[in-house]
Amino acid sequence: MPSLSYPLSSLSLALVLSILFACQSEPATDLGQVAMIPKPVEVIADSSNFVLCTSTTIEVADDPVLKELAEYLQQSIKEATGLEAALKIGEAGKSCCNIVLAYSEERPAVPESHNITIDKKTVTILAGKGDAAGLMRGIQTFRQLIPLEPSADKEDHWKIPTGRIVDQPMYGYRGMMLDVSRHFFSVEDVKRVIDLIALYKINYLHLHLADDQGWRIEIKSWPRLTEIGGSTEVGGGPGGFYTQEDYREIVAYAQSRYITIVPEIDMPGHTNAALASYPELNCSGVSPDLYTGTDVGFSTLCTSKEVVYQFVDDVMRELADMTPGRYIHVGGDESHITALEDYIPFIERVNGIVTKYNKTMMGWDEISHAAITPGSVVQYWRHAENAIRGVEKGASVLLSPAHKVYLDMQYDSTTELGLHWAAYIEVDSAYQWAPSQLVEGLDADAIIGIESPLWSETVTTIDDIEYMVFPRLLAHAELGWSATKNHNWADFKRRFQAYVPFLDRLEVNYYRSPKME
Ligand code: ACM
Repeated sequence: MPSLSYPLSSLSLALVLSILFACQSEPATDLGQVAMIPKPVEVIADSSNFVLCTSTTIEVADDPVLKELAEYLQQSIKEATGLEAALKIGEAGKSCCNIVLAYSEERPAVPESHNITIDKKTVTILAGKGDAAGLMRGIQTFRQLIPLEPSADKEDHWKIPTGRIVDQPMYGYRGMMLDVSRHFFSVEDVKRVIDLIALYKINYLHLHLADDQGWRIEIKSWPRLTEIGGSTEVGGGPGGFYTQEDYREIVAYAQSRYITIVPEIDMPGHTNAALASYPELNCSGVSPDLYTGTDVGFSTLCTSKEVVYQFVDDVMRELADMTPGRYIHVGGDESHITALEDYIPFIERVNGIVTKYNKTMMGWDEISHAAITPGSVVQYWRHAENAIRGVEKGASVLLSPAHKVYLDMQYDSTTELGLHWAAYIEVDSAYQWAPSQLVEGLDADAIIGIESPLWSETVTTIDDIEYMVFPRLLAHAELGWSATKNHNWADFKRRFQAYVPFLDRLEVNYYRSPKME
């Protein structure tokens, strides 16, 4: 052999050795036993391991969206293990220990569907052509596969069992709502919420931006809304508001996790903060005082005044301009002092304004009294007849039954935070209901999904938010994402118990429910 052969064969030997030892397989764990929430449609376990280790790479085609997803996965792996997986952009996956994010050739039959194939050398997360959201949901599942601890004998090896996961959502809309009006929450708090809900494949975050106690979004054409209306909150604290830059930052952060922000301006009731800011919005022409209590149903925009519609138009124009998502929520609930004959034409004009700005109107179930545009979304919270009437008018329904999904409801009579006007909602009650059968007479095909609202009369800190949200949101996330055949309380409980250390690692201040023991 020529003299060159020695260095070459030594190189190949080194390569073989590094492959052998860098990602050496160890006794297998079982993919079927890994606690995943929400439960995937199908998990087929194999009998070996993929080992996440120092030589693991993340490989994607040369595409800016895929690169961003790869960076998100890279960061997630680092947070879970400390490993710095190298990115390989535009390189086909040939090396040992690679994770490939890729699109298939075909468009997805169901958006967000994805497959994860794990063999000894490669993890492939595959979604339909162009369906980046499907890859993001697959990444969230993959994060749940990374064990809490490295291998007993190698502290830079994390074993992931081999097999295949086939998954797709039950509903296209899986939401959470955060009331930032009764108490204000910072941009950082909202980002923390976004990060936590992303793990459970929640894809909409509805922000309740205006209510009696506070107006929380800068509207440049009506600046006193935030100067005055944003200056306090329940209990008389300092309140606060998002500048348009803040809001755009939240929207972009959510988008990077494939979560859509749905902004809500509640009207014509729940408007004391706006009425206190601008006297012309009141029928009396006189502004009320700011309000820091927790009553509802006492305020209304003056629906007979033209200036009110100029106000609504300006607010919707500015809001639509900074909201890439398709929905704008107009509230419409509990307008107790607005006569129905005033309420109905008001909602119809507001509907026209929302449509003019190329958005789809969403509102609490009371809006179905009006002649709403077909395709609007009625958010069922309390009145079954309103949801059914909405469907008769061509609307879709988002399910937020207060007695099952309101996250501000107390777990039981000993819960210090929260209210209980709709129910006490322990985790078993949050889980054990069938969305498609909840409202008798409601066409199941009209249901777009489930949303869990957190009203903030009693909730003042991010710790409070986490305590009321977790673990109930995990139950709702499973009802919204997982196939009905996979809804099983005993199995959910088992997976949750195994999953608890992950919540601890994320330092989530979750409620320790006796129902989950
Ligand atoms: C609501 O809880 N008032 C929608």
